[in-house]
Amino acid sequence: MTETKEIKDLAPDEARAELARLAQILSEANDAYHRQDAPDMSDADYDALKRRNLDIETAFPDLKRADSATEQVGASPSDGFGKITHAVAMLSLGNAFTDEDVQEFVDRIRKYLGLPAEAEIAFTAEPKIDGLSLSLRYEKGKLIHAATRGDGATGENVTANALTIADIPKNLQGAPDVLEVRGEVYMSHADFDALNEKQNTAGQKPFANPRNAAAGSLRQLDARITASRPLRFFAYAWGELSAPLAKTQMASIQRLGDLGFVVNPLTKLCADADQMVQQYRLIETQRATLGYDIDGVVYKVDCLDFQTRLGFRSTTPRWATAHKFPAELAWTRLEEIDIQVGRTGALSPVARLTPVTVGGVVVSNATLHNEDYIAGRDNKGGEIRGGKDIREGDWVQVYRAGDVIPKVADVDLSKRPNDAQPFVFPTQCPECQSDAPREEGDAVRRCSGGMICPAQAVEKLKHFVSRKAFDIDGLGAKQIEMFYGDQDLPIRQPVDIFTLQTRDAENLGKLKNRKGWGDQSAQNLFDAIDEKRTIGFGRLLFSLGIRHVGEAASNLIAAHYGNWVDFEKAVTAAAPFDGAEWENLLGIDGVGEVMARSLVLAFAQEAERAGIDALCVHLTIQDAERPKTDGSPVAGKTVVFTGSLEKMTRAEAKNRAETLGAKVSGSVSAKTDLVIAGPGAGSKAKKAQELGVEIIDEDTWLELIKGL
Ligand code: IVH
Repeated sequence: MTETKEIKDLAPDEARAELARLAQILSEANDAYHRQDAPDMSDADYDALKRRNLDIETAFPDLKRADSATEQVGASPSDGFGKITHAVAMLSLGNAFTDEDVQEFVDRIRKYLGLPAEAEIAFTAEPKIDGLSLSLRYEKGKLIHAATRGDGATGENVTANALTIADIPKNLQGAPDVLEVRGEVYMSHADFDALNEKQNTAGQKPFANPRNAAAGSLRQLDARITASRPLRFFAYAWGELSAPLAKTQMASIQRLGDLGFVVNPLTKLCADADQMVQQYRLIETQRATLGYDIDGVVYKVDCLDFQTRLGFRSTTPRWATAHKFPAELAWTRLEEIDIQVGRTGALSPVARLTPVTVGGVVVSNATLHNEDYIAGRDNKGGEIRGGKDIREGDWVQVYRAGDVIPKVADVDLSKRPNDAQPFVFPTQCPECQSDAPREEGDAVRRCSGGMICPAQAVEKLKHFVSRKAFDIDGLGAKQIEMFYGDQDLPIRQPVDIFTLQTRDAENLGKLKNRKGWGDQSAQNLFDAIDEKRTIGFGRLLFSLGIRHVGEAASNLIAAHYGNWVDFEKAVTAAAPFDGAEWENLLGIDGVGEVMARSLVLAFAQEAERAGIDALCVHLTIQDAERPKTDGSPVAGKTVVFTGSLEKMTRAEAKNRAETLGAKVSGSVSAKTDLVIAGPGAGSKAKKAQELGVEIIDEDTWLELIKGL
């Protein structure tokens, strides 16, 4: 950057000239970034220039240019990394919070595997590093690429940055031909403090905590900046492998250590839940002196054959869990209670707090859950917090655990102002004044306005364009708010996004002539929208924002039905909440009755269905990815298990068959391809015989799927 004068010292002519210069530089940077995929400056430099532009505009409002970068709508520079699809998905971990949860985790695993009481099963216990995960792919011993976790399926290509991290070997001796090593990038406390000191001296914003600093440093478009940041890496897992590293988790980690990775010295082998909890307590006592942030202990089944048998449940492995450290607490003043209206109409009370640091993060908002929580009741009418209610002006305890939204946990009545009034929860939507009734069994009040309620509509649209949904470059929450209220070119429902360009062409008040928009930025937006006209089935379903239907469930449902057309037919036919299609929907592992009802209702309600249908006209919907079933002899077949199984539990058998692409049914019919019959098989085996369906025993089944 060239030498810059302080803004207060700028003469108007100089300010004008500098605004012109900044407009030019920022427009070129945008172009290099978005169009040519060849960024010519770092995020930090870009942000600094943009900030200076804004500061000058604030000091000299009359000089603001029509093409000012301040108003430019475009993707943020952080979208500039290439994408890498993970060969093996990067998953997250389930949680345990108490010693009982750990025992349950162990019991669940023993039950799933059908282990007899005397059988032993070991676990590793190791610190859960509070950084960001990274996947490193080596081929023939050479580092090929490095990718962040992203959404678990696709991450960002940060290879150039990973190459600057000393803990990451660039070449390996004696490794399998294909080896994906996974681990955590983090920053030590000492390095973090030194970095923040530097940031302060340079007049830059300090980082809130080591994890943010590590993430900000790894995700730099200019790898030279990453190189100047002291990042470290612990290896703790793997993805694709051309040959196993070892037979156990512990030995595999040791092997990674031998290959030159840094592995955590506090990793220990434990024989049962008691020993696991012991190791947790030990690590907890060392937490303050480790020199880096950890937020819990991760337990993993040691035997890799068991890991394979246990497999995964949507986004988490059955064979591992994270035992979290207790949450961080702080006291502060509750200034005000605000009511926010979410995309499903829920009225959510939010506490506006006097900012306070909780475990290294400044918190100024916290959730208050619902009206009962504020009143000091649980959802069954029982007391919580000893029945103490929460009022504006109260002195409250704020609680933060990991990434979850901070909560108001407690209130100190001795510090309550004399004039504090009990909070009166609104019975009407504060945004559209529609009634906000509370239905029986529901803990929250919901606005009944549907898409008429601007808050609901805007939140639904924001969800629709969010990162895990349509993820449209340059169309984020801010732009949705702008377009929602636009007179000439409104976006009021998802389909409007895909008609934007046509409407723009027909409209005299063209987007490119608006304040903050130019030819380029309008075209960029239309291009970004066009790019998303092809979308995966699961992602589309999630994007619709149907209540209870989250990302994992959407993917499960998509994998079950395979394609949108079949799904649509089935979900329409399930509308009476009865019959074969309804049962079929409920039969999906991970879909409960509440979710199924909500899904079926969304497709049965006229207005909502019309919106979905109108949207789909503009889309090419890709079929769901089926589990990898290459070479599976049972892919696409319908199988039935009957009788008792001796080498695996029913749950394991079902999951395994489904992973291999089979459809597992509970009853035998002409459509059944294969029956696996154990001892005691009765009427089902008989029926199969009558129908001429192939029947095999458990050993033959295991032989059939061996090695897959
Ligand atoms: S194992 C299939 N081990 O925690 C399981 N994860 O909450 C793979 N993490 O995304 C993860 N320390 O970023 C594992 N020792 C450790 C970890 C660890 C930190 C992170 C990782 C993961 C997240 C899940």
